[in-house]
Amino acid sequence: MKKEYRDLAKAARDIKRYAFSPFSKFKVGAAILTEDGKIFSGCNIENSSYGLTICAERVAIFNAVSSGALKFTAIAIVSDDPDFTPPCGACRQVLLELAGNIDFVMMDSKNRYKIMKLTSLLPFAFTEKNLKRSLKLKK
Ligand code: THU
Repeated sequence: MKKEYRDLAKAARDIKRYAFSPFSKFKVGAAILTEDGKIFSGCNIENSSYGLTICAERVAIFNAVSSGALKFTAIAIVSDDPDFTPPCGACRQVLLELAGNIDFVMMDSKNRYKIMKLTSLLPFAFTEKNLKRSLKLKK
């Protein structure tokens, strides 16, 4: 794996310790890389009203966007699962919309990794193009 992705995975691993997951006990860390080499990270944050829980990937990208970053190349995700942790459907949708077809770097607890493009994780996605087409038809 290239060095910048190794550093990205390390940032994801480092922030995992802050995961707030008293209900699932499942700790996740994510880190997203900007085109100009900056890293923004996030962990999952749960709530006793379960539906308000937010995944690590969305915390990472919202952290980046709210700091002014808008161009990304990759996101790394780690958990304590001995297997790879794939992103949930909601995170795939949010990441595709805000980051485009970036690399998704998944690490297992033994530091093995798998890299997949986001469009292969979310093929035939609903995007703003669908909304724009519909708005044009209504004019
Ligand atoms: N979780 C993430 O943070 N990212 C994922 O891609 C999958 C799930 C979190 C949400 C929740 O806090 C816990 O893992 C169990 O679902």
